[in-house]
Parts: sequence; C-alpha cells; structure tokens
Amino acid sequence: MAITLDHNFSMAEFVGPENGLQEKDLENLTPRLEEIDQQIKTWRQEGTIGFFDLPYQEETAKKINKLAKKLKEWCWDLLVLGIGGSALGAKALHQALCHPSHNLFPPARRSYHSRLFVADNIDPDYLYGILDAVELRRTVVNVISKSGSTAETIAQFLFVYSLLKGRLGADKVRDRIVLTTDPEKGMLRHLVQNEGFPSLSVPPNVGGRFSVLAAVGLFPAAMVGVDIEELLEGARFMDQRLRSASISQNLAYRLAACYYLFLSQKARPIQVIMPYAAGLTGIADWFCQLWGESLGKKYALDGSIVHVGPTPVRAVGVTDQHSQLQLYMEGPPDKIITFLEVDKFQHTLAIPRLYPEMEGMHYLGGHSFAELLQAEKKATAFNLIKAGRPNLTLHLPEINPFTLGQLIYLFEVTVVVLGRLLNINPFDQPGVEGGKQTTYGLMGRQGFESQRQEVENAPPV
Ligand code: PA5
Repeated sequence: MAITLDHNFSMAEFVGPENGLQEKDLENLTPRLEEIDQQIKTWRQEGTIGFFDLPYQEETAKKINKLAKKLKEWCWDLLVLGIGGSALGAKALHQALCHPSHNLFPPARRSYHSRLFVADNIDPDYLYGILDAVELRRTVVNVISKSGSTAETIAQFLFVYSLLKGRLGADKVRDRIVLTTDPEKGMLRHLVQNEGFPSLSVPPNVGGRFSVLAAVGLFPAAMVGVDIEELLEGARFMDQRLRSASISQNLAYRLAACYYLFLSQKARPIQVIMPYAAGLTGIADWFCQLWGESLGKKYALDGSIVHVGPTPVRAVGVTDQHSQLQLYMEGPPDKIITFLEVDKFQHTLAIPRLYPEMEGMHYLGGHSFAELLQAEKKATAFNLIKAGRPNLTLHLPEINPFTLGQLIYLFEVTVVVLGRLLNINPFDQPGVEGGKQTTYGLMGRQGFESQRQEVENAPPV
C-alpha cells in the first residue's frame, strides 16, 4: 500500500535536454540536500517544528475519537468555521475518504456519522445558505482558529453563537461549540477558560497549513467517520520510510529536487497538481495552499530583494483535459505537471457492449470506467512528453486513510525541503498576516489604527 513516484517523464531522455532533467543535475544537489537533512534532524531533536511529530500523536486520535463518538449520539451535522489551514484539510479528507454523496444521505445511510459543512468564506449568502441547510438542533459547531483572532472566523463564531443561543438557550449552547485553538493563548482559549466551551488544541509549533494531522483535521474527519488512526498510521509509515532512505532514494527529497530544478534551471515556475480521481480535488486545493503560503516568499540578497516561489495550479483529470490541457500542451512551456494516479478504485463500473454496428460506441464495451480513466491519464502524460512537456506521477495504490496519510505527510516534508532549497522560511506567511492586520484596521479594531490610516492615505483607485 505504499505510494510511489514515477519521474521518468520529467527526464531529458523523454522530453529532450532543453526541457528535461539530467540525473547529474539531481546528483549535484546532494550536498545541499544533506545540509537540509541535517537541519530537519536538528528541528526534530529540538522540537521546533511540530508537524513531524503529529503522526505519533495516537493518544490525541483516541481522545478525539472518544469525543466524536459521544457527540455522534445526537449530532447529525458538523459545521466547521475556519479558513485556510484551518479548513482545507478537513474538506480534503471528507471529500477523499467519505462516500461522494455522504452529505446527501439520510443518517442511517451514513451509519450515523455527521454530515460536514465547512464555512471557509464569509460571503453572507454562502454562510446563510449553509446555516439554512444544517439541522441546527442537531449541529455541532467546530470553530477552528490557531491564532484565535482571524476576523472571518471570529465573525462567524459571533453570528452562529448568537443564533444557537437564541434557538437553544444559553445553557445548552456551550456543549454545541467545540473550539480548536492554541492550548494556552488567544481569545478562543480565553473563552474556553472563562466560559467552559469544550476544546481541542493545535500544538503551538504546528503552523496552520501543516495542521491537518492535528485536531484541526482529525476531529472533523472522525465526525464524518474517517478512520483517523489509520490516517496517522499512513503518515507514520511515510515518515519512517523517508527517515530510513538515503538522500538519493528519499521520495520527498527527490520530488523537491525535481521541482527545484524545474523552477531554477528550466524556467518552469508553474506547478500543476492534477489528480485523476474526483475525490482528490480537495487534496489538490490543500496542496495549492501548502505550496502557495509556504513557498511564495521574498528575501534579501546582496542588497536587493529576491522573490521566489512556484505558482501552484489545481487541475482535475479528466475534467480539465477538456479545459486546461490545451494550454499545457501548446501554451508557454512554463509548467511541470504532477499527476496523482489511483491504481485501484473501489468500483470499476463495466461499460456495456452495445451497438455492434457502430464502432465509435462499440469499442468501449467490455472495458470499465476505471480503465478508461487510466487510459486517459496515460494518454495525457504521453502526449505531454511528445510535446516536450515534462510531468511526474505519484501512484496511490488506492484511496484510503492509510494512503492519504502518506500523501499528506509526503507533501508536507517535500514543501519544507523545497523551501530550504529556495533559501526561504517555509513556515511563516507574512503576506497573509499583513492582510489580516489591514482588515483589523479597516474594521475598527483598536491597536490597528495605523493600518487603517495607511489605506485611507493611499491614492484613490
Ligand atoms: O497556514 C496558515 O497559517 C494560514 O492559512 C492559517 O491557517 C489561516 O490564516 C487561518 O489562521 P487561524 O487558524 O489562526 O485562524
């Protein structure tokens, strides 16, 4: 059940020396990767970067399962209020690991696991629409904010809290709202301490977009029926695999090295992630956030500012074969495409053999949809290399919690290694924080007057 990487189609032998990588270029990165490897070991020893430890938090998973079990005795709907790293992981796990129509089924058809609604936008019509759809009296609200201060999430909390209080009364409302936040700091923790809301913790050394394997992603996943212990087991499996591999055999290092070379030597700044599985669409969105926020950075070098970072793009096979693929095939040669291919689907769905007199239909009969999907992926990858367009494939033997745990952890380590190859700090997000602070100023939060002034003094647009 191990994920594998096939990077043949990214190599010069297949796409030509101008477009593809040479083994020696990858080998040349070994000393740099050794330094990064050492740095990662130090972080782990010092406990500075916490996501490396999440796969081993089996006790947390047990505690979360216990809470979820208790809540599911009466809860039909889980409403997540959160954004960015506090939302995308939960959405991705739900989409990948639950029945595609999970939210459309009545409770018995989903074995009394909750439906999941993730309100990661404050568009009032969207929020209204979600609140209109949930069974408020049977809803648990999970407010997720590591900082406990993000304006979007706090505004949603205030609204939903008042709504529930009005419907259920002040004493009942508190058991309906689970706050997931920093274990000690922030306004949400303050509410836990002072008003007794149930809570879960995000370890302080785990950044938002690296927190899917913490309570941030695990609690919603447990509520919808995902086997979260298996998910962590998959991540542990990947961690051990990466740690026991040599630099040249290390999947994350190899992937990061390929991406780095395409970016720095082959002028391919766009990294397309293209799962050939509709259920992995959310994982592709999660990947885009992980890549965008971790890698899009600037740093000072010899008195000038260097801006770096690949642009992540989500495409989904086969849907985007009929949308973006033309651009990838003949547009600017500035992309590297990573396919996620699933070897075995839960259902294969045979295509009936009908209309023998019409070859244009008949040839499909006897094949399955799974075969057709795999043929489409193969055809796309092949046509891309014919056009000199490099691509990589990560194979998932199946989509299940074990393989998803591996994939998530693999991408997290890869983004860190790629960030270090680019000489940036993959763990901060000053650009996002800047936007948050300007919003505080514009909305009249005390202490952010200068941010407001700055906008008001700007020339009119
Ligand atoms: O990855 C990140 O750090 C961000 O995307 C955050 O997750 C996002 O801004 C939400 O922050 P918070 O959880 O503090 O509300």
